[in-house]
Amino acid sequence: MGISELPTFSDACASLLKKHLTQTVWEEIRGLKTASGYTTEALMRSGLEQPDSAIGIYAGDAESYTLFAPLIDPIIAHYHGNPGPHPKHDLSTETLPFLSPMAKARVLSTRIRVGRNLAGFPLGPAITQEQRHEVERLITQALPHLPEALKGTYHPLSGMPETVRDDLVARHLLFKSTDRFLTSAGLMRHWPEARGLFLSHDERFSIWVNEEDQLRIIALEKGGEIAEVIACLTQGIAALSRHLSFLATKRLGYLTSCPTNLGTAMRASVHMALHALAADEATLKKNAAALGLQVRGIHGEHSQGQGGVYDISNRRRLGITERESLTRLIEGINCLAEMDERHPRP
Ligand code: ADP
Ligand code: ARG
Repeated sequence: MGISELPTFSDACASLLKKHLTQTVWEEIRGLKTASGYTTEALMRSGLEQPDSAIGIYAGDAESYTLFAPLIDPIIAHYHGNPGPHPKHDLSTETLPFLSPMAKARVLSTRIRVGRNLAGFPLGPAITQEQRHEVERLITQALPHLPEALKGTYHPLSGMPETVRDDLVARHLLFKSTDRFLTSAGLMRHWPEARGLFLSHDERFSIWVNEEDQLRIIALEKGGEIAEVIACLTQGIAALSRHLSFLATKRLGYLTSCPTNLGTAMRASVHMALHALAADEATLKKNAAALGLQVRGIHGEHSQGQGGVYDISNRRRLGITERESLTRLIEGINCLAEMDERHPRP
């Protein structure tokens, strides 16, 4: 049974779902269902069950982005600062600025990931158990086509010993097995079936299979050589693109289950030691936000900084090229490093 009344939210809730779900919008979207069976309730479930959500919705399929547009469009425009269209992709690195010496001294590692989903399938929140297995099969079939430098092993999550899994998570190579936002969105159904990690022999390149998106293609390295990390990532993306067809539209770029990842679907992050700025985390987050950057903890989203080290990444992904995002990230990192240098030490 669908919800008939406009859902209500607590005063403490600050989600974009709460902000944009007006009576008028509700009248337009209530009772709708996509061809793969994704309903208005399913769209909003995470935000209703998890009132501390920042966003509060997940798309179930490509059609969600048109059918539920009266709610999703304002959320997209709010998060990304524009409604699209998305420009041509550009992963070139020749014109990127350099990290300043102060920034270099503070950057411990760099990770760049893109999200991708397969054309012809629903997204994770609406996919069936059988389709999820088919997605895993198609991805693993593409793996032997990776170039020599990226070759490695696919590790299915089913049957993986807990100690091995915990070690991979602790080393930032694997997703966590619990996430209440993903659970509410229906993304943890039949866990851990058809989920897995492809890891290259040198551990610089990896692919997460069937987590929040069907693929998260990732390059990770020590230090701050962003162009090097991009070179590794683009080799992987190019090889996979020859064997898999990714879901994308002209307006929204690559389609992802969470609207924050649309467009480039790229999150480029550095682990950065900001020992002086760490004394006042709220101000650090405010300053980073003003630079278009997001601050996360050392173990990713919803974790805490540790020993003055934070995960600093680009916030916006739609209506901006990869190159522009990286340029702003590098400029922002240089700026934070300078602020940290100038900040009075305790
Ligand atoms: P995502 O990037 O996929 O949106 P998370 O924020 O959960 O998701 O991060 C995934 C993992 O990547 C976490 O273990 C996080 O600590 C790790 N990570 C992110 N950036 C870096 C980095 N620059 N160096 C090392 N690990 C990183
Ligand atoms: N659904 C969560 C929220 O609304 C996370 C949103 C962004 N992060 C993500 N991993 N998609 O707060």
